[in-house]
Amino acid sequence: MALDAHRAPHPRGALTTDQGVAVDDTDNSLHLGERGPTLLADFQLREKLTRFDHERIPERVVHARGAGAYGFFEPYESLAEYTCADFLQEPGRRTPVFVRFSTVQGPRGSADTVRDVRGFATKFYTRHGNYDLVGNNMPVFFIQDAAKFPDFVHAVKPEPPNEIPTGASAHDTFWDFCSLQPESTHMLMWVMSDRAIPRSYRMMQGFGVHTFRLVNAEGRGTFVKFHWRPKLGVACQVWDEAQLAAGRDPDFHRRDLWEAIASGAYPEWELGVQLIPEEHEFAFPFDLLDPTKLVPEELVPVRPVGRMVLDRNPQNFFAETEQVAFHTANIVPGIDFTNDPLLQGRNFSYLDTQLLRLGGPNFAQLPVNRPLTEVRTNHRDGQGQQLIQPGTSYSPNSVGGGCPFTMGGGRLAEGVFEHYQERVDGQAIRRRSASFADHYSQAAMFWHSMADWEQEHITAAFAFELGHVGDRAVRRRMVGNLVRVDAELAAEVARRIGEPVPEQEAAAPAPEVPRISPALSLAALGG
Ligand code: HEM
Repeated sequence: MALDAHRAPHPRGALTTDQGVAVDDTDNSLHLGERGPTLLADFQLREKLTRFDHERIPERVVHARGAGAYGFFEPYESLAEYTCADFLQEPGRRTPVFVRFSTVQGPRGSADTVRDVRGFATKFYTRHGNYDLVGNNMPVFFIQDAAKFPDFVHAVKPEPPNEIPTGASAHDTFWDFCSLQPESTHMLMWVMSDRAIPRSYRMMQGFGVHTFRLVNAEGRGTFVKFHWRPKLGVACQVWDEAQLAAGRDPDFHRRDLWEAIASGAYPEWELGVQLIPEEHEFAFPFDLLDPTKLVPEELVPVRPVGRMVLDRNPQNFFAETEQVAFHTANIVPGIDFTNDPLLQGRNFSYLDTQLLRLGGPNFAQLPVNRPLTEVRTNHRDGQGQQLIQPGTSYSPNSVGGGCPFTMGGGRLAEGVFEHYQERVDGQAIRRRSASFADHYSQAAMFWHSMADWEQEHITAAFAFELGHVGDRAVRRRMVGNLVRVDAELAAEVARRIGEPVPEQEAAAPAPEVPRISPALSLAALGG
């Protein structure tokens, strides 16, 4: 661009205004006389204050607090048999990544070591565009349908009149919601376990949660569940340690990640996939589209397919970690969605919220969000536009300019996204599928796969949290749900919080899915 040829550093290396005018004094405002009023003419002061006044942007509506880092992903083997995704083709070929870890509930300034779910979001800058795997450190979720997400978050967040409580501790609204929404029971077991207070971001598993679809060059689909396994093993804090850490150093996890990378102790994760042929879609005693269910590893082993190393800290927290925009709908050729009703809603929500949070439609031009591939669109204008597009911007176009559609529609031409051609029949209905109805079998499976000490921690966590709930009806209803998981767990929690011990005969029948899942227990993972 012609102007670029004229750009140069300031001759004296001086501090300047936004307009490049050198500033003589940044410590004193311009005022009349020795002790008189400040003058509106002081454009330097006005600019300095205005820029300060506008420093904040809305925090993320969830996952507000986080830490990020750059690194790379490299596959061990080619997955071309299952997917044409560029970053999974050649063993050893590195794809740059940016990862953001986060807590879910607390605001930006909350403490790291609270009992909460952790976000584990990865942006792969592939040669065929950006792919975002926006996961958590637990393999299931609280709700089955995106329509429940605003209700769920309203119940989790501080209450409107006084914004109390902060932190992720017990409160009536959260437990009220969960006790009335039994689909959250499996996730609650995870959240009451030690998994909810990781030792370090470097020692956390990550999960894509939903069932996704890999698509190969012939257009054949395979269901997939994504797993990240930390090379350092999974480790957690016990409750008292976490309390201490939160008090002493609210940045405990952020500092740990930053310092590890700064000192060259680069954290590493292995990417694993559970691959499920399409013809096995209905082979499980649960629905693959139900995000409150995991696929037991006894039924489908996790196949390690590559590794990710984080080896570079960001230079500027706001520019990179705060402005990074992950979106479940950022997929690339070779990866596609399924009809999981939670995923389908997420595919709307992330872009929608980022239009507000990042001030308009051009945030993909920010350095941390910009794809490595050339971006050629016919989009125009909008707040924050950085690109200077020559010519017109429409297609078809005979006068020049604009980005023509030239791919010719060849079947899965290399690097071109084509939606998976799934056949779906049916009428529009607003009703949960009957195949999503079992809310307790996997919660029970989780409970029975825990070591004794893990069960004790879970029991103590339920008793602590429910013990802080003021509304006794909520406590009793929640204990009533736990009976369906395990009668002894429910009885022990009830005893500890002074509620009536529920009837044994109400206990759930033995789950049909395998009762032992080695990957669930920290003890089994060397944690
Ligand atoms: C962040 C919505 C479920 C993982 C967010 C944000 C929204 C959101 C609006 C803030 C994004 C931003 O401001 O940039 C939803 C909705 C869900 C849902 C509507 C369900 C219907 C989930 C699930 C997971 C998840 C199931 C995990 C599998 C994350 C992560 C972030 C996030 C990791 C933080 C991304 C970052 O680090 O910037 N979600 N979410 N969410 N969500 Fe969800």
